[in-house]
Amino acid sequence: MAGRDRIADLLRKLARAACRCPAHSNTFHQGGAANGAVRSTDYAFEMACSNIRYGEGVTREIGMDLQNMGARNVCLMTDQNLARLPPVKAVLESLLKNGVNYKMYDKVRVEPTDSSFKEAIAFAKNNSFDAFVAVGGGSVIDTCKAANLYACHPEADFLDFVNAPIGKGKPITGVLKPLMAVPTTAGTGSETTGVAIFDFEELKAKTGIASRAIKPTLGIVDPLHTLHMPERVAANSGFDVLCHALESYTALPYNLRSPCPPNPVNRPAYQGSNPISDVWSRHALQVVAKYMKRAVRDPEDMEARSSMHLASVFAGIGFGNAGVHLCHGMSYPISGNVKTYRAKDYNVDHPVVPHGLSVVLTSPAVFNFTAPMCPERHLEAAQILGADVSQVKRADAGPLLADTLRDFLYELQVEDGLGAVGYGADDIPALVRGTLPQERVTKLSPREHSEEDLSRLFEASMKLY
Ligand SMILES: NC(=O)c1ccc[n+]([C@@H]2O[C@H](COP(=O)([O-])OP(=O)(O)OC[C@H]3O[C@@H](n4cnc5c(N)ncnc54)[C@H](O)[C@@H]3O)[C@@H](O)[C@H]2O)c1
Ligand SMILES: [Fe+2]
Repeated sequence: MAGRDRIADLLRKLARAACRCPAHSNTFHQGGAANGAVRSTDYAFEMACSNIRYGEGVTREIGMDLQNMGARNVCLMTDQNLARLPPVKAVLESLLKNGVNYKMYDKVRVEPTDSSFKEAIAFAKNNSFDAFVAVGGGSVIDTCKAANLYACHPEADFLDFVNAPIGKGKPITGVLKPLMAVPTTAGTGSETTGVAIFDFEELKAKTGIASRAIKPTLGIVDPLHTLHMPERVAANSGFDVLCHALESYTALPYNLRSPCPPNPVNRPAYQGSNPISDVWSRHALQVVAKYMKRAVRDPEDMEARSSMHLASVFAGIGFGNAGVHLCHGMSYPISGNVKTYRAKDYNVDHPVVPHGLSVVLTSPAVFNFTAPMCPERHLEAAQILGADVSQVKRADAGPLLADTLRDFLYELQVEDGLGAVGYGADDIPALVRGTLPQERVTKLSPREHSEEDLSRLFEASMKLY
């Protein structure tokens, strides 16, 4: 009896001492607390790193990369506007110089939809590519991620990997082909994330696919490309960086997010704020504060434009692991319900509220609402963006950050609220309906919210100044 007790005791000790990382442990039961009880909130977070190569003119190396990996049939994706511009020319030159065989797909839709994703997927399925190269903003990179994913899972139904509850949210288990992303905006950070966003037409709201499996193999971040961005593309993609940084820094902490995944494969890419993402997000915000206005106003300001390009990478790594919350969740129906608004400088043949604009328009109302849950972080953000916080009480963190953001937007000549992009009070129910299924991100709001709260946030965002 004593011997059996001793063996049991030894086994317990061994289990406690065993390495618990996913690579070495197959006995560790994820989701169980140390005492074996089932936890309702998560207790761990993962930092998935992103491979980035940064440098002026570094695009010239891409042909060598593809040659090094033995690629024989490469899919080059872009949009019709960029197909005529220097970033695509630089990639083509490198492919030609290194004798890389490729086929170009230049029909990516700016702000992609499920139909435009499916067209790109069909192109990829028909051509048996062994590597992918995406040259463009988030629209191109996201479309290329989806094309690679479904070409490598020919049996899958389109909704299989789309986020639940809109899609089935199945984990991706197969292996994808290498994808090199060359971002030309500054920007979505899509070159760093395992996320692909599209407008789901029947829902009139965006949704996406989120899995570390679709993260690009390498992001080739060449700041020379950002010199070609027109002013409003620089402004709107910069607002996306601003909101990625602010939302990930103020997101619900990872250990308050529920449920605790029963298996690590179920742990979402967007996990809530965490100490490692915080470093990336805070730094991105500092760069935005220092350089964004210069980068928007002067396309030849190389220091400012290249700094913003790096900021989009910093923010991408931060939010790619921590997630975003209400500005993004509420932006998806703002883009999806667009009526006739056509953003200046966007060379497209359809109405569009660009992503960065759709997220930033609600930001003053959103951060005013979330501030009571973590006032220190909201105060710190306001301070980074230039506000004097020395005499400010914690209770005033929300109004202060909201005012700071309004000033920032006004200086950059942003449209005066949702009213200025075609929305009115009658649209609020549809905007709320389109936000409700965005749980993947809205659940990361630090403050719980009802449908009435969402209505009030949309209402408060109709006019900013
Ligand atoms: N995957 C992610 O993690 C993630 C994150 C945020 C946003 N997104 C998605 O990304 C999309 C928005 O991407 P975006 O803001 O990068 O813009 P975009 O890709 O939609 O491009 C906007 C416009 O700018 C043009 N353009 C891009 N780069 C240019 C350059 N260097 N010179 C001249 N013109 C240029 C394009 O041709 C297009 O007309 C949205 O669909 C959004 O939902 C994805
Ligand atoms: Fe975004």
